[in-house]
Amino acid sequence: LRVVVLISGHGSNLQIFIDGQNSGHLPIDIQAVISNRADAYGLVRAERAGIEYEILTQRDFADREHYDRALRDRVAHYRAELVIMAGFMRILTPVFVCAYEGRLINIHPSLLPALRGLHTHERVLQAGLSEHGCSVHYVTPELDAGPVIVQARVPVQQGDRVESLQQRVQRQEYRIYPLAVRWIAEGRIELRDGAVWYQGRRQ
Ligand code: GRF
Repeated sequence: LRVVVLISGHGSNLQIFIDGQNSGHLPIDIQAVISNRADAYGLVRAERAGIEYEILTQRDFADREHYDRALRDRVAHYRAELVIMAGFMRILTPVFVCAYEGRLINIHPSLLPALRGLHTHERVLQAGLSEHGCSVHYVTPELDAGPVIVQARVPVQQGDRVESLQQRVQRQEYRIYPLAVRWIAEGRIELRDGAVWYQGRRQ
């Protein structure tokens, strides 16, 4: 499966995909990594792995739509069958999302539809919730509202801080994100009529 990964930062999820590809455990071929930030550590990971990478900063474009048009063209250049958002901290406009609907996925650190948006770990602690988690979902124009492919739950423990909670959630991200990508690569899963279908059954 020809894949492009979009990042903004640390790229630990990207690393999981690189490792999966290199070990032969994940049937993907990462064509390129694209970052909206020049200082994203994930670019170092791409470089080390010998994967092409590009930096596309908002500064170089008049507005979001021009940016998204450029991003769409770059992703098309790599003939990506799947676009993986891995900590890509931008809200994409329909210019991009509609071009890749059904081929664009994201991981969000909450049990969607709960806690869309930023700072989910802080919000879980502030609200005193006992459960947290992460969700892999198809991306649709509405932020963090696309159909969920797979989720993982983690408990919130006594004395948890943002860092401990984030670590616990991320360990699950590293498990379910490659799982979702495997399902897509194997043709088990697709987005149809706004819903996730798994092996021909609407979820
Ligand atoms: C992940 O925790 C993900 O849930 C969120 O951004 C973070 C990215 O981390 N969307 P990394 O850049 O993959 O290390």
